[in-house]
Amino acid sequence: MSELTLFRASILHFLRDPGEAADDRAWQYWEDGALVVESGRVVACGPEAALLTQYPQAKVVDHRGKLLLPGFVDTHIHFAQTDIIASYGAQLLDWLNTYTFPAERRFADRVHADNVAQFFLDELLRNGTTTAAVYPTVHKASVDAFFSAAEQRQMRMVCGKIMMDRHCPDFLQDNVASAEADSRELIERWHGRGRAGYALTPRFAPTSTPEQLAMTGRLFAEYEGLWLQTHVAENVDEVRWVADLFPDARSYLDVYDRYGLLGERGVYAHCIHLDRADRERMAATGTAMSFCPTSNLFLGSGLFDLNRARELGVRVGLATDVGGGTSFSMLQTLNEAYKVLQLGGQKLNAWRGFYLATLAGAEALYLEDRIGNFLPGKEADFVVLDWAATPLLERRMQAAQSLEERLFALMLLGCDRVVAQTYVLGEPRLPAG
Ligand code: GUN
Ligand code: ZN
Repeated sequence: MSELTLFRASILHFLRDPGEAADDRAWQYWEDGALVVESGRVVACGPEAALLTQYPQAKVVDHRGKLLLPGFVDTHIHFAQTDIIASYGAQLLDWLNTYTFPAERRFADRVHADNVAQFFLDELLRNGTTTAAVYPTVHKASVDAFFSAAEQRQMRMVCGKIMMDRHCPDFLQDNVASAEADSRELIERWHGRGRAGYALTPRFAPTSTPEQLAMTGRLFAEYEGLWLQTHVAENVDEVRWVADLFPDARSYLDVYDRYGLLGERGVYAHCIHLDRADRERMAATGTAMSFCPTSNLFLGSGLFDLNRARELGVRVGLATDVGGGTSFSMLQTLNEAYKVLQLGGQKLNAWRGFYLATLAGAEALYLEDRIGNFLPGKEADFVVLDWAATPLLERRMQAAQSLEERLFALMLLGCDRVVAQTYVLGEPRLPAG
């Protein structure tokens, strides 16, 4: 009895960044393709004729006429903000006080945390996202709720308790000792268990004391393979506030640098109001940026500069940043990314767009050895998209002259409705039909 499964579909995956010039050696596409999976891992990917001959014993799953891609990777999202997505009228600091902190307070209740975590992960799957770097709340139980729900679904996830010991409501505050003890306990429980990875998560410089940032740096150096996620240079008022709080630092990013918080598996959201020295420092240390276009537009934060980051060699992943972001869909996020870059005089071609939503996210999280494309041995997380899921898409696809034109229309018009199926380790996770 064979465990091999062969999925027939049009298949696209990336080997590296196609760039603004769309280098066609950066991707592989098979109109009549096949992905062969065994025990949740990729065995082979290529033209269906050859693979059907090579693996005659494989069970065949037919997705012909649809597009099969690696699962989307969302490099920055807040599960505890699910219920406040699309909250009116504020920029970052007001938005945190008015909507975010009251919503996060409810996660002291494990039942509530479990409920939201389940909904959130199912919503990711409905949108074709199979891996994410996720913020819970300051509460230890919110991390347990999240990783338990992810484990049930076998999803590869990065998450870790938010740390904040000042400039936030009392009901959300920890302190240096409790943040360290809770983080250590959660690292021991979850880091490297199944597909879980632990991220030290100081919310952002204004809500941590220098002592808490220093403690975070010590933990980051102490444990093997930890992630570290935070926010930087999102909003001009925030940047001014950080300059007041840390007068000795050269820049906002430099605050984190002084406490040893840059490095591989460091994932920094927004990265809008940076200078050249900051970007060079991120490149030199291997620290990644999360580009959060729907959030940056919704909160009026500013325009991310993709080309400057990539030219300097910084790893950049795409992210929804729900609930500052306004969609769980990485396709809708690409739609807005295109417009952000337009306003900055840059172009986002469809190839680079789908690279950003897949392999680039894996690279930003230093998970490219496990996920992000279909090289043999990778974990078989993938999504099947319906080109013609809506009347408008169907019509637009008929008018399209090329694959690139079809991909671009899918990237701009697509949403959860185009996701026909999401597979985690080779198993379907959405109800059929
Ligand atoms: N900066 C600090 N906390 C947050 C948050 O929850 N969302 C966003 N977008 N920025 C932040
Ligand atoms: Zn965020």
